[in-house]
Amino acid sequence: MSDGISPSLAEWIAAWTDEVGKVDPLAAEILQAEELREQKTLNLIASENYASRAVRQATASALTNKYAEGLPGKRFYHGCECADNIEQLAIDRAKKVFGTEHANVQPHAGSQANMAVYFAVLKPGDTILGMNMSHGGHLTHGLKVNFSGSVYRAIHYGLNRQSERIDMEQVRQLALKHRPKLIVCGASAYPREIDFAAFGRIAQECGAMLMADIAHIAGLVVAGLHNSPAQAADFVTTTTHKTLRGPRSGIAMCKAQYAKVLDSAVFPGLQGGPLLQQVAAKAVALVEASQPEFKQYGQAIIDNSHALADELLGRGYRLVSGGTDNHLLLIDLRGNYPELNGQQAATWLESAQIIVNKNAIPFDQRPATKASGLRLGTPAITTRGLGPNETKVLGGWIDEVLSSKGAESVCRRVKGRVLEMCEAFPIP
Ligand SMILES: Cc1ncc(COP(=O)(O)O)c(C=O)c1O
Repeated sequence: MSDGISPSLAEWIAAWTDEVGKVDPLAAEILQAEELREQKTLNLIASENYASRAVRQATASALTNKYAEGLPGKRFYHGCECADNIEQLAIDRAKKVFGTEHANVQPHAGSQANMAVYFAVLKPGDTILGMNMSHGGHLTHGLKVNFSGSVYRAIHYGLNRQSERIDMEQVRQLALKHRPKLIVCGASAYPREIDFAAFGRIAQECGAMLMADIAHIAGLVVAGLHNSPAQAADFVTTTTHKTLRGPRSGIAMCKAQYAKVLDSAVFPGLQGGPLLQQVAAKAVALVEASQPEFKQYGQAIIDNSHALADELLGRGYRLVSGGTDNHLLLIDLRGNYPELNGQQAATWLESAQIIVNKNAIPFDQRPATKASGLRLGTPAITTRGLGPNETKVLGGWIDEVLSSKGAESVCRRVKGRVLEMCEAFPIP
């Protein structure tokens, strides 16, 4: 397990996997291979990050053994003293760092947090207004094949064709026409700042509730580098594993008046017992996110995102909306390579150990399985310690791979350089 990673980390990983190895060598081998894969690739997937060792340790705690249906102080089982304490810690910290009146830290993931809000205040057939997934929205914002688009009547807004920014006038017109019960803002692939106050005004004007899904930008919101939806939105939902750098999970928050219905929607509405080991890890991640260094980390994510955008723009790439305000950017491959789809481009980059995902670009003609874009995000490389200089070099490598049409010799050479950078910047 030494293989290019620091001895202290190798020792730490061994401690985790040795116990698994005694019982299940096959599974242990896979776990170790994943540790190495993460160490030896540069990860530009905008929705991923590396949780700290403290967060990872919490996910492996004894709390994985405990059932605690209910809420702190109101459980259905006994023996919940530690469960109560850890959940209350996580609740208090979530309310503090996000500035919300109420928080439920039990949703297993971001989708469950969104589902809880819908289940709390909507009836089947009610109208929701959310961002079109092909323009950057998430599937839980009303995609037909998702529960959100089949249980509810979903209307979609999108981007302005010229500016490639959210068309707020379209949002307003659709809201006034369809009178949704809930407006959903927030995105999975939108490189610009979202104006939560403007969404709030539209929601008020048409008598809708507002939900802000900050899954992607939560870390930037906490760091004060993106405006907060806490005032404007009735509900704020998030994942905890993206820019926030916590464990895989979700949090649903709301104004005090919705606290009871939201809590009941999570349990007994949608879930059984909370995953307390994840709740514990959320508590730890929220402490990390409230340190002054986290603000610097958030700024470094954005600086790297700007550096990557500058490098790619300088090399003639077309970026959706012309750049980025946050942790991600979207390359429209049609600009430089009309024949190249996102699936092929991501595969070439993976052979050079650079991990990205294909992504639809607004008004894409290609199916989502191929797509005309690549989504690149900087949270994970920033956690490794890469700065703007290294990120620009990485942008150059991306161009080298794509412009060579994935030539084997180029991918091999770039892979060598990527491995050197991975060794210089190990996952902490
Ligand atoms: C905006 C947004 N909301 C919700 C989710 C769902 O999160 P999860 O995959 O944890 O269910 C995501 C995940 O990418 C997302 O980007």
